[in-house]
Amino acid sequence: MGADVHPRNELAHWHPVLDSRTLRRAPVPVRLCGQDLVVFRGQDGTPAALDDRCAHRAMKLSCGTVEGGRLACPYHAWSYDAEGNGSAPSSPNLSFSVPSYEVQEAGGLVWLRARGGTGDLPPLEHDGYRMVCTLRRRFAAPLEPVIDNFADDEHTAAVHLAFGYDPERMHEVELTVETTDDTVTSTCVGPHKKVSPVLAPLFGIRTGDELTIDWTFHFSPLHSVFDMRWVDPGTGRERSFRDRIDVFFIPIDDDTTELVYRQMTTMRMLGEPGFQLLVRPVTSLITALEVRVDQHILANLADTSGDLSTMRLGRLDRSLGMVRQRLDRIYRQRPGRTVGADASAIDAVAAGEPEALPPVVRRSATAAPPVADVGTGVTVRRGDRPRQGAARLRRTARSV
Ligand code: FES
Ligand SMILES: [Fe+2]
Repeated sequence: MGADVHPRNELAHWHPVLDSRTLRRAPVPVRLCGQDLVVFRGQDGTPAALDDRCAHRAMKLSCGTVEGGRLACPYHAWSYDAEGNGSAPSSPNLSFSVPSYEVQEAGGLVWLRARGGTGDLPPLEHDGYRMVCTLRRRFAAPLEPVIDNFADDEHTAAVHLAFGYDPERMHEVELTVETTDDTVTSTCVGPHKKVSPVLAPLFGIRTGDELTIDWTFHFSPLHSVFDMRWVDPGTGRERSFRDRIDVFFIPIDDDTTELVYRQMTTMRMLGEPGFQLLVRPVTSLITALEVRVDQHILANLADTSGDLSTMRLGRLDRSLGMVRQRLDRIYRQRPGRTVGADASAIDAVAAGEPEALPPVVRRSATAAPPVADVGTGVTVRRGDRPRQGAARLRRTARSV
């Protein structure tokens, strides 16, 4: 058997590292938690994953080929099976292996974790919902700031283009947070921002509708389930468009985080042809634009350490500490790691007292890291100005 011990705790959890359709005959390199891995399909098409480093003289196995279900190194043709057991044509009695991983395919995604890992995949299909799209995008930021962005509904007012709260009425937004040992659930309710006259009839929502954004974070595998619904404040009736997005978080390395979005809706309004020809493409495009503005924001943080103790949190940041605590304990398996923060202050934030944290401590500037490629067909660099990007995206959104 190949080696199965891995030093990174995070690798113990399932991560959707590839879309199934991108894994064909050729091996594919994957970077996860700073580790270089290679994924390939064995004899019967079942995916397998190994460290991307030949045991012989350190060639990248991802440059090799798959022959008879074995991954052959391009340098001297030593080859490996799905468990990482090696075979050397020139030294048939040599015993060697490379570390291998558990792999499974579900929901059109290839999932990977260390052998002997923990947690089950969540349900990927949901009664009453139809799939809109699956998007995979990279953010030029470490995991913690990306997680914080998804535990924050306040930014939907200032940042997002089509959906979110009315920036003029943010004081009316109400937040409740509930926790269990291994989940954090937030429910945010408030008036919706101005809805484009093109989008209003398509989605059946109106300016000033009562918007509820409900999300639950889970930590093995690391993902959050978002549910957005709109209510007519006059009649109290729920609109027919309801949006659900399951977001999976994949740390590529210490500077880059990849996200997989699986978006679904209950929308029935325009029938199947209307859904396939109109609702689905338009919703997918809007989601892609909304993701891109988040990418621009996160590429421009002054400090990516994620140190909550240097931040002056407000009343709508109440869930951040609760999410961080579970991230550290369950996902990173390092309780108390919460970056740079004074433990008692974070406990207070986790208990719902955001003012417990001290005011911002100014830190000396750090050099921006080199350019990061952040996503399929999308390049957002650290230092790209968010305003320019957002203005360009707003023009695109208006033309939708
Ligand atoms: S380096 Fe892989 S076979 Fe020699
Ligand atoms: Fe966002």
